[in-house]
Amino acid sequence: AQPWRGIIAEYAEYLPLADGDPVVTLGEGGTPLVEAPALSARTGARVYLKVEGANPTGSFKDRGMAVAISKVVAAGSPTVVCASTGNTSASAAAYAARAGLACAVVLPAGKIAAGKLAQAIVHGATLVAVDGNFDDCLTIVRELAASDAVALVNSVNPYRLQGQKTAAFEIVDTLGDAPAVHVLPVGNAGNISAYWMGYREYAAAGRANRTPVMWGVQAEGAAPFVKGEPVEHPETVATAIRIGNPASWDLAVAARDESGGRIDAVSDAEILDAQALIAREVGVFVEPASAASVAGLLARARAGDVPESATIVCTVTGNGLKDTATALGDTPIAPVSVSARTADVARVLGLD
Ligand code: F0G
Repeated sequence: AQPWRGIIAEYAEYLPLADGDPVVTLGEGGTPLVEAPALSARTGARVYLKVEGANPTGSFKDRGMAVAISKVVAAGSPTVVCASTGNTSASAAAYAARAGLACAVVLPAGKIAAGKLAQAIVHGATLVAVDGNFDDCLTIVRELAASDAVALVNSVNPYRLQGQKTAAFEIVDTLGDAPAVHVLPVGNAGNISAYWMGYREYAAAGRANRTPVMWGVQAEGAAPFVKGEPVEHPETVATAIRIGNPASWDLAVAARDESGGRIDAVSDAEILDAQALIAREVGVFVEPASAASVAGLLARARAGDVPESATIVCTVTGNGLKDTATALGDTPIAPVSVSARTADVARVLGLD
């Protein structure tokens, strides 16, 4: 079998690139669909995790960025700009570096995980920290992108959702059909919209017999869909989804309602508990925002709302290594120190 070629080559017939268009790829997509017996046991369903932290920059954003940046190269803008809670900027910086474009990222000051900032810096982006939240940053970059010299690569750029829908294709290709339920975290609401588009397109093309029920999950302090209106001062430990005024509002509501789904909120404590559970019992290290999907599923299971034996996929959107500080919390990195003698190590481990 030939190696995975990245989403643009793998799913060309479903993507808006023409033959001969430039393709900017880092081999994104083809991520693992990992069965999660520990979650199946707790829910009575058959639960899988779509591990998007396995993408080149450690989040699902790479799928959308491959298509968006390819289109920027085709259009000829020399510079890309984005607002971000961290992952979009990491991905934009990497794909812009690959394509030889300049990249500017506008970020909420003090609210981005260190790993994500490091990524943007090492890939050569220019960073601007704003005294405001993500929603303020998005307003600013939309205004900056009014000029042709600057291309906006947030998920309001429709090519982003085109790329991100390929995750739904992969799940169907692996399972042989769409799952009964798909659960994912919701921030700016691009990804839930992209998955719903992907599932519908695949069903329309005869590649799947059904579309899933879409369950979105927000953090309690940043849950505009649950409140039914924008949240002016969003707050959550899951900084990736610390968003109060999602850009893809209407698309996400359509995904929820057309699929017969729901969008719930979970507390920060539930998010951190789910992150620890996934790490310890499934063996996958995800970032807090990603754990919101699993936290939402577990809450529904406690409420008795999970269909027995149903196939359920939770997207875990980003890699835990991006934000080790939150994952460790108060736990110091302080292993017992001993001499370089096996006997001493054995004594510490209780193996003597
Ligand atoms: N999970 C992670 C890890 C994210 O980084 C994001 C969004 C989401 C979930 C929510 O996805 O916005 O499509 O509903 N991060 C954006 C960013 C906002 O700037 O990196 P969404």
